[in-house]
Amino acid sequence: MIDKKLVGEKAVDFVKDGMVVGLGTGSTVYYTIIKLGELVKEGLSIIGIPTSIQTEELAKKVGIPIGDFKEIEQIDVAIDGADEVDSNLNLIKGGGGALLREKIIAKAAKAFIVVATPPKMVEKLGAFKLPVEVVPFGTELTEKHICELGGEPLLRQSEGIPFMTDNGNYIFDCIFLDISNPKKLEEHLNIIPGVVENGLFVGMSDTVITLDRNKNVLFI
Ligand code: 5RP
Repeated sequence: MIDKKLVGEKAVDFVKDGMVVGLGTGSTVYYTIIKLGELVKEGLSIIGIPTSIQTEELAKKVGIPIGDFKEIEQIDVAIDGADEVDSNLNLIKGGGGALLREKIIAKAAKAFIVVATPPKMVEKLGAFKLPVEVVPFGTELTEKHICELGGEPLLRQSEGIPFMTDNGNYIFDCIFLDISNPKKLEEHLNIIPGVVENGLFVGMSDTVITLDRNKNVLFI
């Protein structure tokens, strides 16, 4: 918790007056949003573009003005958490189920900053189950196609009810034993009919904020 606060708060250093800021989802970027809310109260002028309904509610609560793509074409900086970060700064995201909007916003940003505590830093991606967002129609077939790529998909659900994303879709959390080529897997998953997006963020991160073993903030 304290580690998440340290890395989350540090990300506000990338935010300058007048910027449009992509606001990620999760318990690490939560601290970024809280800190930004404090800075807004002190006079910082920004517009936030949230990656989820949950983040939108939080941003509004702390006083960050919210915009959308009807009025904004480009984001200056997007800040978000991650479930895994490999040595090439490729990510697995989507543990919170917001991967689709997170990827749209990261792609629209001039700079994409990732806040990740040390346990998220891995040599190779794949210990965390890869979230894949799928349309509810024909999930049996979509599941079969994911299996053909070597994955073992498990429908995300609680008490027997499928988890539904902000976009009205389902999520398969997929065990992939070999993610040696994340780019190829990202592409292969996304051409399956029924797959909307997957949680591999390849070549998108500009900076990762984490901690060293003495808990000093580290920029990678
Ligand atoms: C949500 C995400 C989150 O960024 C990711 O799950 C990390 O969350 P946390 O900071 O709570 O560990 O991708 O879809």
